[in-house]
Amino acid sequence: MRLDRALSNSGCGTRNDVRTLIKKRKVTVNGIIVTDPSVHVEKTDAIEIEGSDTKLKDKLYFIFDKPDEVLTAMDDKRYKNIGDFIPPELKNLKLSPVGRLDYHTTGLLIITNDGELSHRITSPKYEIPKVYTVTYEGKALTQEEIEEAEKGVTLNDTDKPVKLRPCKIDVVSDDTVDITLYEGKTHEVRRLISHFGKQVLTLRRVKIADITLPEDSISGTFYEMSEEQIVAIRKVTGLI
Ligand code: URA
Repeated sequence: MRLDRALSNSGCGTRNDVRTLIKKRKVTVNGIIVTDPSVHVEKTDAIEIEGSDTKLKDKLYFIFDKPDEVLTAMDDKRYKNIGDFIPPELKNLKLSPVGRLDYHTTGLLIITNDGELSHRITSPKYEIPKVYTVTYEGKALTQEEIEEAEKGVTLNDTDKPVKLRPCKIDVVSDDTVDITLYEGKTHEVRRLISHFGKQVLTLRRVKIADITLPEDSISGTFYEMSEEQIVAIRKVTGLI
């Protein structure tokens, strides 16, 4: 692949940014300064930008700490959306969110251009656990209610009954639980809580498989996934 495209696909900058770096003699391939952006490179080539090792990547993986009142979409005319937070050098790389969080749900979203990984994380077939911390209004969930939810309840809040798969509920306090889901039906947590006559006050996704946000995460921030996190999520979804 051409050097400029390979670098920009790897998240190193827009095509224009990387061409400028190349023209300014800031890029070396196998130790040699390259000034032609169209030169052919392979993944095995040793590339440095301004003296720093730069790996060519086929796919990009990020995690995003979604704020409240943000639409899980890359573009929208009316509402604030994820596209508004994406750094300019990562635009036009076909990145998309893996699954959806409601407008008022906060927390962990994986953003990638790896379509197969995205499919496997969201498909109920792969049963990838997603953990949500929920605070709710109303009486504390009883042990019986928790057991019922953990066996899998049937929701009757639409025309057709909807059978939910068993989930796992860990009580944090009288008004807070961690719920682990292995599927992702529309508004599943909110509907499950409302099945028991309570209303969700706050909902935050805290974990997908073993992926979490940094402890001191700042809402609205994009984080590059570490190599270990990428390997872990690809392993758990059976891609490696
Ligand atoms: N369940 C919900 O109800 N909303 C979300 O955003 C995610 C899971």
